[in-house]
Amino acid sequence: MTQGDSKWSDDESRAYAQLADVAVPSRREQLAALITQIPFKTTKKFRFVDLACGEGGLTKAIMTLYPKATALALDGSPAMLGAASRRLSEFGNRAKMATFDIANDGWHHYIDGADLVVSSLVIHHVDSNGKRSLYRDVFNRISERGALLIVDVVAGRRPSVWSLHADLFDRIAHEQSVNETGSSELFNIVQRDEWNLFRYPEDSEIPDTIFDNLKWLDEAGFQDVDCLWLRAGYAVFGGHKTAWGHPSHGLPSEGPSYEDALLAVSDALRN
Ligand SMILES: C[S@@+](CC[C@H](N)C(=O)[O-])C[C@H]1O[C@@H](n2cnc3c(N)ncnc32)[C@H](O)[C@@H]1O
Repeated sequence: MTQGDSKWSDDESRAYAQLADVAVPSRREQLAALITQIPFKTTKKFRFVDLACGEGGLTKAIMTLYPKATALALDGSPAMLGAASRRLSEFGNRAKMATFDIANDGWHHYIDGADLVVSSLVIHHVDSNGKRSLYRDVFNRISERGALLIVDVVAGRRPSVWSLHADLFDRIAHEQSVNETGSSELFNIVQRDEWNLFRYPEDSEIPDTIFDNLKWLDEAGFQDVDCLWLRAGYAVFGGHKTAWGHPSHGLPSEGPSYEDALLAVSDALRN
């Protein structure tokens, strides 16, 4: 599995921690949408792995909504893992952490038998072949009742789509800066530091289209493959190993509602 030349640095982790609420379009909505597609009742026991957990917000939201779930939160940045460890400390042994590099497959044994793999905003650092083989490997290693649910940046199929994503990104980042902080200051930093990857592509960012991502999930064997949400080139998508109706899956009404998921995400990202 390969990725672009430049690696994510601890400086980027610090900048991301400061800017994510502005530089990621509708971040809470994305994570809440992902959570609503976890195929289990909130009372179920299951094991999940978060690929590139960052500061642990998504892991925490899932563990709060699913009090019997256990987690392995992986990240490549010691600074991020330190922050995640503090955020997840209330869960004691239910939450474990480890370092990994998404660009090679030496960590894939961590997902053996897992019931859920989630990932937010890292898979676009892996090239097309790497994504394809990652989806296949996750499918082969997770449990029969398992699922793979992803938030990621997706490419446009034609230049006008890249351009639309770039314009929407700026508009949303400006709105979020004003709504979150009452000023344009963070938006100005996002502009200055060229966080809009649709306007300022980098070698290390290798997004593929939503069409290709869904096709590769389908080819890997996933069922019910779908895009759940897409805005300004940020998408939530995934699939389940077994089509809906597996005996261990809950009814949609037995999982968290979108509103409950949004509240849990907002709380988890704050603390
Ligand atoms: C944009 S942040 C997303 C963090 C978190 N998932 C979220 O949604 O807030 C990207 C994360 O991927 C991690 N990362 C970047 N490149 C990586 C790599 N090659 N292997 C493992 N983690 C990596 C970074 O340390 C960072 O935590």
